[in-house]
Amino acid sequence: MNVVITGANRGIGLELAKEYKNLGYNVIGTSRNPLSSTTLQEEIGLENIIPLDISNETSIKEFYDSLIQKTNSQIDIFINNAGTRGERGLQENLSHDVMLDTINTNSVGPTILIKSMKSVLSNSKIAIITSGMGSISKTMSGDLSYRMSKAAINMAGRNLHMEFKRQKSIILLIHPGWVKTDMGGDNADITVSESAKGIINVIDNSNNENSGTFIDYNGKEIPW
Ligand SMILES: NC(=O)c1ccc[n+]([C@@H]2O[C@H](COP(=O)([O-])OP(=O)(O)OC[C@H]3O[C@@H](n4cnc5c(N)ncnc54)[C@H](OP(=O)(O)O)[C@@H]3O)[C@@H](O)[C@H]2O)c1
Repeated sequence: MNVVITGANRGIGLELAKEYKNLGYNVIGTSRNPLSSTTLQEEIGLENIIPLDISNETSIKEFYDSLIQKTNSQIDIFINNAGTRGERGLQENLSHDVMLDTINTNSVGPTILIKSMKSVLSNSKIAIITSGMGSISKTMSGDLSYRMSKAAINMAGRNLHMEFKRQKSIILLIHPGWVKTDMGGDNADITVSESAKGIINVIDNSNNENSGTFIDYNGKEIPW
């Protein structure tokens, strides 16, 4: 069984790679810099790390070509985990560059990437790691770029669910919890291990009926 995880060099992505490796999967991880991703190398080997900058169109094309060369088969599980946080809190002056980079990395790039992988994503499970901060009905002030980017990827996931169900693939929009990583910080609620185990369990237990839902790492639905 093949599993592909983006942003696998640290945080939740690295833990997902470790867990899937322990479960006996063939794990392919992406990193913006495979050569300096030493922990990921120890887990899955440098030969299983493909360079990917998800905000860059050329990088997405090159990633797809490398993936096909490496596996030449269907991808059973694809997890888009890579993401960036944007500006924090309530800012008086928003930066065009930061907003565009956040939306590009968290929503435009992943959407184009999943579409570009369509031919190897039949009968597959596709998990998009989104965030509860993308819930429109639970919006609070601040963190505009991040909230906008995650609301946008939720729309994309819902849309892609309609498209990919024709090839029997499931799309899940998963909030990983508030997790102790570089992004989540030390005060977060749960460890990467708790989050990754939960995500894997949710993916394992998913079926056509869950496709297109917005759920957390325990499988609990989150309001749009
Ligand atoms: N931690 C939380 O509490 C929390 C809560 C809700 C949702 N999430 C979501 O969970 C996912 C993982 O978060 P995390 O906490 O593990 O974050 P993290 O520790 O900051 O790791 C982020 C990962 O994404 C990669 N990445 C960032 N920009 C990229 C780009 N342009 N192209 C390719 N890879 C890129 C990073 O690679 P580099 O090392 O090269 O930067 C790194 O591997 C994200 O989608 C995040 O939004 C996290």
